[in-house]
Amino acid sequence: MTKIYRAKDFKDLSRKAANILSAQVILNGKSVLGLATGSSPIGVYEQLIEWYNKGDVDFSEVTTVNLDEYLGLSPINPQSYHYFMHLHFFGKINIKPENIYLPNGLESDSKRECARYEALIKHLGGIDMQLLGLGRNGHIGFNEPGAAFEADTHIVTLASSTIEANKRFFNSEDDVPKQAYTMGIRTIMQAKRIVVVVTGQEKAEIAEKAFFGPITPEIPASVLQLHNNVTLVGDEAALSFISPALCANYMQ
Ligand code: GLP
Repeated sequence: MTKIYRAKDFKDLSRKAANILSAQVILNGKSVLGLATGSSPIGVYEQLIEWYNKGDVDFSEVTTVNLDEYLGLSPINPQSYHYFMHLHFFGKINIKPENIYLPNGLESDSKRECARYEALIKHLGGIDMQLLGLGRNGHIGFNEPGAAFEADTHIVTLASSTIEANKRFFNSEDDVPKQAYTMGIRTIMQAKRIVVVVTGQEKAEIAEKAFFGPITPEIPASVLQLHNNVTLVGDEAALSFISPALCANYMQ
């Protein structure tokens, strides 16, 4: 059952989600965190960095595995998710570089890379807490509409709407890679706890469909309704299509 926290705004949402992640790390210093990119989690990372700087949370024994990476981008490419994560989070906390994992966008043998990533997650004992954003078309990671629920880490061709949405980070639409490595739905669903952050009016309709509509591969995030420990943290705009009465039932 999904627990929903309604936040006032982006800052409040970021603080609430960061509270959940920091509690995980405080309770288990050796946690394996599944991390996400996109603009939605940036505030969560900023808040965690602030608490790290105050000495309230320690990442020295934490391990992270990221959801996805563009195919063909090297870690030093400013548009790569490696770069994003170092810029917004890893470079500002005391995580050990050897405890940071993302799919290798430069590995052209996709079978090998996907098998490596899945084996890695298993070797780590699975993901204790997975942070997720929500794509405008309902994707999670890069699992686009139609993705098989039973898929493990795999290579995907991005939906044109995703390329359109993500072109804001690139010089032009042509520069957006057309393919990416992503954890599959099954990989994500095996995480012990999942925290989804959703912000802004443009996500309101898809957030309602994902959490209260039919469970269908056409809306990949709808599968989260089947997970037994999901927390949705949204701001008022993002939750505006979800009736307050329904929310109240889940609020704490
Ligand atoms: C990308 C990422 C997703 C993310 C999505 C939404 O496609 N692969 O993990 O959830 O963007 O991004 P934003 O939070 O910027 O809307």
